[in-house]
Amino acid sequence: MDAGLARGLKDVVLDTTESSFIDGEEGILLYRGYTIHDLAQNSNFEEVCYLLLHGALPKQDQLDQFRGRLIANRTLAPQVIEVIRLVKSAHPMDVLRTAASALAAFDPDVDDNSRDANIRKSERLTAQIATIVAAHHRIRQGEEPVAPRKDLNHAANFLYMLEDKEPSQEAVEAMDLDFLLHAEHGANASAFAARVTASTLSDMHSSIVTAIGTLKGPLHGGAAEAVQKMTSEIGDPSRADAYIKQKLANKERIMGFGHRVYRAEDPRARHMREVSKVLGEKLGHSEWYQILNQVEKDMAPYQARGIYVNVDFYAGSVYALLGLPEDLFVPIFAIGRVPGWCVEILEQYENNMLIRPLLKYVGPTDLPFVPIDKR
Ligand SMILES: CC(C)(COP(=O)(O)OP(=O)(O)OC[C@H]1O[C@@H](n2cnc3c(N)ncnc32)[C@H](O)[C@@H]1OP(=O)(O)O)[C@@H](O)C(=O)NCCC(=O)NCCS
Repeated sequence: MDAGLARGLKDVVLDTTESSFIDGEEGILLYRGYTIHDLAQNSNFEEVCYLLLHGALPKQDQLDQFRGRLIANRTLAPQVIEVIRLVKSAHPMDVLRTAASALAAFDPDVDDNSRDANIRKSERLTAQIATIVAAHHRIRQGEEPVAPRKDLNHAANFLYMLEDKEPSQEAVEAMDLDFLLHAEHGANASAFAARVTASTLSDMHSSIVTAIGTLKGPLHGGAAEAVQKMTSEIGDPSRADAYIKQKLANKERIMGFGHRVYRAEDPRARHMREVSKVLGEKLGHSEWYQILNQVEKDMAPYQARGIYVNVDFYAGSVYALLGLPEDLFVPIFAIGRVPGWCVEILEQYENNMLIRPLLKYVGPTDLPFVPIDKR
């Protein structure tokens, strides 16, 4: 590569952070010093949100109050619902981007960029983004949005608002774990994009809208949907090997594999693999897990090149087992990632420096100007 160029900002360390630590060689992920495995086994999404946004694990009363604030912030302004109705036929990520932008107009702290106000906005956004996704799903099906319930946690309330029925315990646990695993991941593309916006001292809602637009792409949040499509195309574990060989021969990528940072297995993947297996067995639908597992085995030779499964590989099968439509996979990722985006934005504000890289110009430099009638 050209000396001085850092294409894709690969391996560039942008700034310091206290939010998450990733060791890509060893496959380690920590949220504020706690391993993702401990948190996945012992914690829950609300507790992890508090940890990320407020810097330490909460005591019981702090957690209760935090949960109370999330619950109090779940309801959307009627005007935001109207915005969702206006754009209801668009892709759910486009609707989310538009409605998240509209939230700013009704946020009581919109003109206040202080740390306290931005923490309040972070909590509100964490609560509201889930409601937007669920409300849009209802509206696009010709139904009315379902009012949030105060007695349900974030994951349970989201599933309840989506389907207007009490979700099963295993569905709630799977959703909660999924949100927790997606909550924060350093300077990933969407968090980086959010930091760029924040670095101009633009506001929190603008930074979150930037992040949503960035997450949408198939090389980032869109991978789970692509994996599920691949699983359906393969159809049976016995066809996995030929399918993979064909794709790789065509120089196509296998979705759900590879990662910019990890050269070992993405530590989040093992938890989604387990949920995919256990939930599949419980619901009598092990076929997706079996196909994915076979693909993973067939891709084993690529581990020598640092290509392993990432978090999205098994996530799609879990969403599918929960009966969620494929175009909601990325918005679900967004619901989980809001606290991570917020904490990255907060850190950017705290120690701000405008993010403004250079481009190396490679075009001509000595063209004579030609008048329009002579071109
Ligand atoms: C995530 C991703 C964009 C990271 O890519 P990156 O850090 O830019 O690495 P590169 O694109 O330079 O890939 C390096 C090499 O590995 C190969 N590779 C990377 N991911 C691959 C995949 N999923 N399938 C097959 N080959 C892959 C590339 O073809 C490239 O090979 P080459 O050196 O022979 O050209 C990439 O792995 C990818 O496209 N994965 C599939 C999408 C996905 O699952 N995204 C979710 C991420 S959480």
